[in-house]
Amino acid sequence: MVRHDFNAEVRGLKDFPKDERPPVLLSFFSFRTMVALGTLFPLLTIIGWFKRNRLVESPGYLKIMLWSIPLPYIAIELGWVLAEVGRQPWIVYGLMKTSDAASPIASSQVLISLIAFILVYSLLGAVGFYLIVKNARQGPAPEAVPEAAAEPAAA
Ligand code: HEM
Repeated sequence: MVRHDFNAEVRGLKDFPKDERPPVLLSFFSFRTMVALGTLFPLLTIIGWFKRNRLVESPGYLKIMLWSIPLPYIAIELGWVLAEVGRQPWIVYGLMKTSDAASPIASSQVLISLIAFILVYSLLGAVGFYLIVKNARQGPAPEAVPEAAAEPAAA
């Protein structure tokens, strides 16, 4: 798939010199967990399709779906870990190593911007979460619920 050629040779990890191999454990588990999740999602969808007319009577399924909300985010992060860790030690394959590409700046500068990013995104995350919870507790606006909107006309 990678070479767009059915007859291409796929070289194993041991065919590469030791100093050109990525951290194996992290790549191994991020790939497998991502693929496991990528298998689970269509399965949940198929089960949901069969239950589509009795979702209200399937609290177990609804609970699984609710607790599955973080899973695609985890899969995305694992895919990213796989892509970034799996290509080490290269930043440009065969041409430039990551160690040669690091900017000559003090680690304290990196730390300060990292802390700033963590603070800003944590704040945004907390505000977003608060607003979602607030809206969910309020429930849908009456005009968004077909039966409720139809009632005054019928009365
Ligand atoms: C059967 C399921 C899956 C397979 C076989 C698979 C395979 C792969 C492979 C081989 C890569 C590395 C690509 C590269 O670095 O060149 C990758 C990256 C990635 N995957 Fe998956 N994946 C699967 C499911 C998922 C799912 C369910 C998600 C998210 C919901 C996901 C999100 C990502 C992301 C975000 C990347 C990083 C892309 C990049 O930075 O270039 N994957 N996947």
